[in-house]
Amino acid sequence: MSGFHALIPAAGSGSRMRSARPKQYLELNGLPVIAHTLAALSRDARVDRLVVVLSPDDMEWDSHDWSAWQDRLLVLRCGGATRAETVLNGLGAMAEWCVADDWVLVHDAARPCLPGDALARLLDEAAQDAVGGLLAVPVADTLKRADAEFRVEATVPRTGLWQAQTPQMFRHGVLRDALRAAGADMTDEASAIEQRGLRPRLVECDSRNLKVTYPQDLRLASLILEHLND
Ligand code: C5P
Repeated sequence: MSGFHALIPAAGSGSRMRSARPKQYLELNGLPVIAHTLAALSRDARVDRLVVVLSPDDMEWDSHDWSAWQDRLLVLRCGGATRAETVLNGLGAMAEWCVADDWVLVHDAARPCLPGDALARLLDEAAQDAVGGLLAVPVADTLKRADAEFRVEATVPRTGLWQAQTPQMFRHGVLRDALRAAGADMTDEASAIEQRGLRPRLVECDSRNLKVTYPQDLRLASLILEHLND
């Protein structure tokens, strides 16, 4: 049977947070953001490894206590200049111990509020799929395309549009080949898979699985976490 491994790219600087500290280390309900992310992933016993990929320059990881996940955690210091490079470097290091058919769930370090039921659904549904899949949310708002002066150029029909989230779950060998072929500027794994002519399955999640990107997101994440497992 194929294993399930989480790969958590955590080598970003988080410039949109306007903070000198990378966003995965910002405090959220008394813990670094990434500690909540690891807790959410490890709540499902099927996820057998948590692979965190840090920047080689990371100065902060060692100053926190990660013993809660010691038996499942593997820390790599091979992050790259882009998210895609970080993921590709992580997959390369994982190749030493995982097989091409193992499932890899790539999950942003900065998504600390992953609901357990959505993770379980992804594991159930994507593992039955020939390609794999990702969590995503149907677009709720009306979408506008802007021109260079921030005036509405067009209204984009939202029917059939989804916002991609993470985890994004694909087989190790397929994902590694797809990212190698796609180049460094892919903003998610599914895009690289799509470029290979494959069609990832969309598994519905909701807005609780937000990516902490702007300063105000931390307050929201804090409130979501308080009620996540109600
Ligand atoms: O910046 P963004 O919000 O797109 O980052 C998403 C995730 O990718 C974060 O967990 C961030 O740490 C990670 N990342 C990375 N290596 C980079 C850039 C981003 O691991 N060079």
